Amino acid sequence: MASHPPLITTDTWKRRHVIDSASLSYEEVQEVLKTAKSFSHILSRPVKKIPTLRGKVVVNMFYENSTRTRTSFELAAQYLSADAINFSVSTSSVKKGESLIDTAETLAAMGTDAVVIRHASSGVCQQLVHYFGDRISVLNAGDGYHDHPTQGLLDLFSLMERLDTIQGKKITIVGDILHSRVARSNIHLLKLFGAEVHVVAPSTLLPLHIESLGCIAHTNIETALQDADVVMCLRMQMERQQAGLIPALREYIRFYSITQERLEKFCKPDVLVMHPGPMNRGVEIAREGSDNREISLITNQVTSGVAIRMALLYLCLSTPADRSGLERFQANLNERSHERTLAV
Ligand code: CP
Repeated sequence: MASHPPLITTDTWKRRHVIDSASLSYEEVQEVLKTAKSFSHILSRPVKKIPTLRGKVVVNMFYENSTRTRTSFELAAQYLSADAINFSVSTSSVKKGESLIDTAETLAAMGTDAVVIRHASSGVCQQLVHYFGDRISVLNAGDGYHDHPTQGLLDLFSLMERLDTIQGKKITIVGDILHSRVARSNIHLLKLFGAEVHVVAPSTLLPLHIESLGCIAHTNIETALQDADVVMCLRMQMERQQAGLIPALREYIRFYSITQERLEKFCKPDVLVMHPGPMNRGVEIAREGSDNREISLITNQVTSGVAIRMALLYLCLSTPADRSGLERFQANLNERSHERTLAV
């Protein structure tokens, strides 16, 4: 059994909350990535539990649907031995008109240590931090069009695992940039790590002044994909057609869908394909691209999501003293596995 890389116990991380990507510094993101790397080794063990957050309570408050984010936060909390509660909005008193603040106040009064929130309104996380920041940690699981920081971090982690560095890599984000919190999180984090970020969409799905975020905007798919090292597809939300932002889904597919042919014709030969999910196969991405294990990082992204969310819960809910305790626990574990190897 290989020993695990050490958990780091630097004092870089001082946050109790993760509510956006743009305010994360390079050093903080490095700390998240290194911590996630260590946790990713725990995920490959037969018994995936460590006692790090025993006694802590993490509540998932999802006002919008989710498969990946909600499940991976729940698993992350459980693997760290925290109690993970899925607050069901559809069967809660929210349906009787209870406000977000009153709901959070109720959960805080029951001893909740962290809330993980997804909501259609941009800015709800800041609002929660404003009211409860000294009592509970707030982790943003996607707010409106604003941000999805844990998605950006897991995408970066997946890329760093495969490429070691993204410095100077051309990364092209394709699709509904206008409504995408994933695009905004990724542009910031990929730029922070030195990538050259391009975005491409029909002009109706490109926000005005998107280039002020430091990316290069295109409406032509061929120039956007030319020599790309990584292509990141975004979900095309069907309601965009009803809103008149694209003339027809068929036309979008014709001009923007990521097909094997486009990947081979324009991108680097070793291009990687990503998608945050859920995918509309045959719309923003063709089946050959998404299912090709050689080039697709899509399953890796899902796995990385658990490690990244373990890292964030751990960093936000523990103190530097707790973290050095865990380092001792891990050193002990590594020593025991070394002794077992010698005995064999
Ligand atoms: N990528 C993502 O946020 O997926 P879910 O909506 O399934 O959580």
